[in-house]
Amino acid sequence: RGDPRLKAISDAISVVPNFPKPGIMFQDITTLVSDHKVFKHTVDIFVERYRDMGISVVAGVEARGFIFAPPIALAIGAKFIPLRKPGKLPGDVISEAYELEYGSDCLEMRVAGAVKQGERALVVDDLVATGGTLSAAIRLLERVGAEVVECACVIGLPEVKGRRLLDGKPLYVLVEPR
Ligand code: PRP
Repeated sequence: RGDPRLKAISDAISVVPNFPKPGIMFQDITTLVSDHKVFKHTVDIFVERYRDMGISVVAGVEARGFIFAPPIALAIGAKFIPLRKPGKLPGDVISEAYELEYGSDCLEMRVAGAVKQGERALVVDDLVATGGTLSAAIRLLERVGAEVVECACVIGLPEVKGRRLLDGKPLYVLVEPR
């Protein structure tokens, strides 16, 4: 992967030690998105990859997936679907729980006419660590009959990046944590 844009993307991510808890090296993408050129590089790489794949749904994971998914959706002519933390979406929703280091959390998606049977979907988030969040996202989309084509993240741990598969779905990651 000799794309020089990838180095610029990696360099623009800042690392905040011991945030939000001791021992965590927080990967801060606010410095990436505040650099117009690097934010554009990031979106462009995804758009170049997904524009001709027949994708009609780009699902973003709250909260930081909401930063990257909408510009990708607009550029490839797909709809944006927000996957939210519990209790945020009105109307009929479906939920999928996932494990955290301590306890569990859950993602919700609206079902009313949003995603149709057989639609090709891309799932977008800023970072994949254990993959638990993306797995829940995949299950939500599959429950309404969508076909998850791939999951796309800006940052992925080397283990996950090397694996390249998440619940049998391809995983595309731009850079490793700094
Ligand atoms: C972070 C990140 C991913 C998830 C990855 O979100 O943005 O969504 O964790 O972790 P996993 O691969 O181990 O599931 P966080 O839960 O901190 O929520 P936020 O974006 O709302 O702050």
